Amino acid sequence: MIDFDEVIDRRGTHSQKWDGMGRYDVPLDTGIPLWVADMDFRTASPIHEALQRMVDHGVHGYYGDDSSFRAAMAGWMTRRHGWEIEPEWALQTHGLVNALAMIIQACSAPGEGVIVFSPVYHAFGRIIAANDRRMVESSLAVRDNRFHMDLNALEGALTGDERLLFLCSPHNPGGRVWTADELRDVADLCLRHDIILVSDEVHHDLVMPGHQHHITARAAPQVTDRLITLVATSKTFNIAGIETGSMLISNPALRQRVAKVRAAMSTSNNRFGMIMAEAAYEGGDEWLDALMPYLDANRQLFNASIAAIPGLSVMDLEATYLAWVDFAGTGMSRGEITTRLTDAGLAVSAGHTFGPEGELCMRFNIACRRALLAEAMERLAGAFSDLQ
Ligand SMILES: Cc1ncc(COP(=O)(O)O)c(C=O)c1O
Repeated sequence: MIDFDEVIDRRGTHSQKWDGMGRYDVPLDTGIPLWVADMDFRTASPIHEALQRMVDHGVHGYYGDDSSFRAAMAGWMTRRHGWEIEPEWALQTHGLVNALAMIIQACSAPGEGVIVFSPVYHAFGRIIAANDRRMVESSLAVRDNRFHMDLNALEGALTGDERLLFLCSPHNPGGRVWTADELRDVADLCLRHDIILVSDEVHHDLVMPGHQHHITARAAPQVTDRLITLVATSKTFNIAGIETGSMLISNPALRQRVAKVRAAMSTSNNRFGMIMAEAAYEGGDEWLDALMPYLDANRQLFNASIAAIPGLSVMDLEATYLAWVDFAGTGMSRGEITTRLTDAGLAVSAGHTFGPEGELCMRFNIACRRALLAEAMERLAGAFSDLQ
């Protein structure tokens, strides 16, 4: 029996989400954290059991042969995504932002361009800047309350020094699932301009009922030779602390290029991460199948709550638990919106950190127990009650 309503006190556990919400000036004892992307749920029991076996064994030396991990990952991709991968495609990383850094270093030179669709997960911009590359932001248009890429505008703005395109699929924030046609169009643009396509699919298991994620490698096979797909168990199973992910690269020459940077940094496998990730890929299906209806019900509660507050609108999540709320209709400045959220004790991610398009938006992480989400929504309604 999986109980996502269980009250689990995460305070005082080195939790970034709970113990770190002071950065939003909300009190640690009464604040509600709806920011960084982890969930408040206990992870799947096969993962606990694998960890327990390690604890019982008690010897935690260097991790060696990873073939069973690779087989478990391949099994998951076949079973859940209809995607056949070869074991040798995978290069393990210290989380996926680490993967992005290695790819930047392997596939571009300082000053060269890396394309992103903005607003997007803020670590994309952070890691591009930290590596002295130029971020090329292609604004996502909002139509019918959904994000849309404008590839014509992007193509017209290219200067020729763009080496990489970071695609977030499904998209964070807002949870847009890209269609197979959209993926093909992005792939074709990359082919035309000799750009390496990085498909960050860390959220690809967290798809709401009624929606279908498309693996870029399957939707756009024409781009295979210049494609790097990023996957992990970290978001899916709420084990982001394992800082373990994989780059899947079918082109041996491209894989070799990235592997060289990985070796230069001496990135090696973390025993705890590898064993927990393997257990997740091996036996996490039941937990995930129970999680998604729960998140879907949270989505409905969230949407209804936002709809009841004049001036606020939310993109309907097709995937992920990271809802994108537009406050523009309130007529308030970012400062005013932030003050009201802070005063209500709500720690949410500020939209402008995802790109300039997010100036009057906020990202809400709705992956908590429903009663807590309901309390957060009451506080939100109270904070903007003068608009009623
Ligand atoms: C699109 C995307 N990629 C990567 C990450 C983080 O990956 P990691 O914690 O493995 O570095 C996140 C976390 O929210 C994310 O949303």
